[in-house]
Amino acid sequence: MTQHLIDWNSAYSIGLDEIDDQHKVLFDIINGMWASVINREKGAPLLDALDELERYTVTHFTAEEAFMRSHGYSNFEAHKKQHDQFISRVRSERQSIEAGGPVSLDMINFLKDWLINHILVQDKAYAAEFKNKKLGVLGGFFSRLLRI
Ligand code: FEO
Repeated sequence: MTQHLIDWNSAYSIGLDEIDDQHKVLFDIINGMWASVINREKGAPLLDALDELERYTVTHFTAEEAFMRSHGYSNFEAHKKQHDQFISRVRSERQSIEAGGPVSLDMINFLKDWLINHILVQDKAYAAEFKNKKLGVLGGFFSRLLRI
């Protein structure tokens, strides 16, 4: 069995179960791509994996953006820009491989590093703001209740 490129651990959790589950799927897809390259599978399996990565990334980013919008996330535009840039990169890698370009471990490492950095910095930032807002609302509620 091929070793994983990335394994999920609690350091990657942003504290929102649904989003964490989606990130785990992205890890699985990237591990699948890594296995394709390590096992020297040519063409189709890697292209299928890149298609899957693009499809699932769009699904995940759409869900995450809806969540951020619904909670009025203060850094929404910058976060969305990062999402759009990542999808463009995945699409251009797929097109390049479709056109017969080389498959490189560097490309898969880039996708992995980008995803980890994005989760640890950008995704954790919106999750923290969401939690602080929730605590603020609860604090206001208890203040009113206790008239303090
Ligand atoms: Fe989970 Fe902003 O991507």
